Amino acid sequence: MRFHIMTLFPDIFNSYMNESIMKRAVDKGSIEVYIYNIRDFSNNKHKKVDDYPFGGGAGMLMTPQPIYDAYMHIVNTHDIKNPRVIYLTPKGKVHSQEIAQEMSVCDDVILLCGHYEGIDQRIIDLIVTDEISIGDYVLTGGELPALILIDSISRLIPGVLSQNESFEEESFKDNLLEYPHYTRPREFMGMKVPDVLLSGNHKKIEQWRYDESVKVTKERRPDLYKKTCKK
Ligand code: ADE
Repeated sequence: MRFHIMTLFPDIFNSYMNESIMKRAVDKGSIEVYIYNIRDFSNNKHKKVDDYPFGGGAGMLMTPQPIYDAYMHIVNTHDIKNPRVIYLTPKGKVHSQEIAQEMSVCDDVILLCGHYEGIDQRIIDLIVTDEISIGDYVLTGGELPALILIDSISRLIPGVLSQNESFEEESFKDNLLEYPHYTRPREFMGMKVPDVLLSGNHKKIEQWRYDESVKVTKERRPDLYKKTCKK
C-alpha cells in the first residue's frame, strides 16, 4: 500500500516513519510512504501558499493552486486511477477502527494536511473523497492526524505485525475494550496477578478476560457497551 502525504512540514513524518513497526513495514515493503512539500508546487515567486479569506475573518487559508498541482503530480507520477484523497480536519467524520479497516485494502491513499485556518473549499470539492477528524479537539495542523491514520491503517495490513504483536485480541475487536494484562513478577509492590491467569485453565482464563472486557467497556464506553452487549 502506498501513502502519499501532502504537507507544509515534511520533516514531521521522517522521525515517526523511521522507528519501530513503521520502519519495519517500510523496510519490508508492506507500505511505501511518499512525502510532498506543498510549498514546492507554489507558482508564486516567493513560494507563498496562504492568503486572506474572502469575506474577512481571522487567520489565513491555504491557497488552492499549490495543493492542486501537488495532487496532479502525485496521480500522474504514480498512475493512480481512482485516488482516495483524505483531508484531515476537525470537521470530518471521526476516525475509527472500522474506517482504518476499510482503508487498509486501498492501493493508494493520499493524505492532505491542512494548516492555518484551513484550505480553500474548492480543493475539497475538486479532489477530496473523505474528510476525517481524529477527535473533537482542534490541533494546529493535519500532520499528527495523518500519522495516526497511517499507523492505524498500516498495522492492519497483512505482514506488518508479527505473530506476537497480533491484533487478534485487542480493543475494539467486537466493539469491546481490552481486558487487563499482567507479566512477571507474580507480585509487584504487594499487588498480585489474578489467580485465574496462573491457573492454566484456558476456558476459565478466556471467560475472565471476556468478563473484564465487558466490565471496562461498560464503565468507560457506555456507547460501545450498548452497541455490543445490549443487542
Ligand atoms: N486538524 C486540526 N485538528 C484536527 C483534528 N481533530 N482531526 C483532524 N485534523 C485536524
